[in-house]
Amino acid sequence: MLGYEGVSKKEFEAFCEKILQSGYVLWQKNEIGVNLFRTYRQNEKELCLAFYPKLSGGTMHVFADAHEGTVIIPEAEQYEKVREATLYNISFDYSQKSIPDGYGMSYVIALEDGRYIVMDGGYNKSSGSYAYERLYRCLSENNQHPSGKIVIAAWFMSHPHGDHYGAFETFTDVYGEDVTIECFVANPYSYKMNTEGEWFTTKLPTILNRWSIPLIKPHTGQILTFCNTELEVVFTHENLYPDKNFGANNASTVIRLRQNGHTALFSADACAAASKMMVKLYGEELKSEIFQVNHHGHSGGTWEFYDTVTFEDSYVLWTCPEEFFYYRTLGYYVDGKSIVDKSILQPNRDLALKVGFERNFYAEGVVESFTFPENGAITVSAERDITLDPATQPQP
Ligand SMILES: [Fe+2]
Repeated sequence: MLGYEGVSKKEFEAFCEKILQSGYVLWQKNEIGVNLFRTYRQNEKELCLAFYPKLSGGTMHVFADAHEGTVIIPEAEQYEKVREATLYNISFDYSQKSIPDGYGMSYVIALEDGRYIVMDGGYNKSSGSYAYERLYRCLSENNQHPSGKIVIAAWFMSHPHGDHYGAFETFTDVYGEDVTIECFVANPYSYKMNTEGEWFTTKLPTILNRWSIPLIKPHTGQILTFCNTELEVVFTHENLYPDKNFGANNASTVIRLRQNGHTALFSADACAAASKMMVKLYGEELKSEIFQVNHHGHSGGTWEFYDTVTFEDSYVLWTCPEEFFYYRTLGYYVDGKSIVDKSILQPNRDLALKVGFERNFYAEGVVESFTFPENGAITVSAERDITLDPATQPQP
């Protein structure tokens, strides 16, 4: 990656023109607010450009990738619609989990042609049960693929932490022969830069090789299209360069899902540096009807970020158990114990109250589904039975 500061829009456009003159073809063009993104191709080469006019007097990023293994998915494929696009909020078994451990993140998006997108997948083993089994159950119970087979159009991995990648390893081990995984989407970084990235650079290639799964490495601004579902990359670790000490959570790839005009933002475990950067780059542009709270509600989400990316009636997904949902929004366990750090609690509480408590969803118990109809609002399979009303609870 090359980064340039003090670049004007005119200079960016002149650079784009030069790329075209040198024989590259424009493959994809995107804009998020004032930010401009272009992807060009020539033979086996791909050039991806990002221009952020509000950053350091105009910042341009240039990525040069080999074509094979890093391509973005071709757009507008023809397909037969067999179902409504649906997002499933996978639940975990947290019965023996301790607080300092992670909480797992796993979402499934069913596409209109019956294929799936899996996001992260969760732990290998989560307490008494296995996340990969829960994931498989959701995929098989809801499978409407015409072939009868489970077909995963893309397995997206946000960052290399075990509560996000653990299930992938075991899932492929156990179900690799029965399930088709058409590609794996991640933007890994060198673990020489950050040891937490080791899984991406050591284990992942072995698994992908074994099952012949191509790796798609998207950059910020690129859109991956599956049927009419778009995954728009809005943040990667590359947005924090030249800083290299950001930690694996801040290296989360953040994506926005767009489906029939509806939007869902998955911040994964993005922490403060990533949140701040996204607010700076995009402001209100990231407002989404569904928002997955940063880092399981544990840390990293600021009120500025939460308020910027949500509407008054957004649905909020907390990738944590019921108990911690209360703990992190109200400040104590359901049994009345303990208080959480106020600097984290206040934004969480304010977010939960902003959207109304019944629109908050934790990741335990029933698996809720959200459908994205062509006309009308997102529909939810079940309203959450939130038993505590924060308005009646003592202020933290
Ligand atoms: Fe996590």
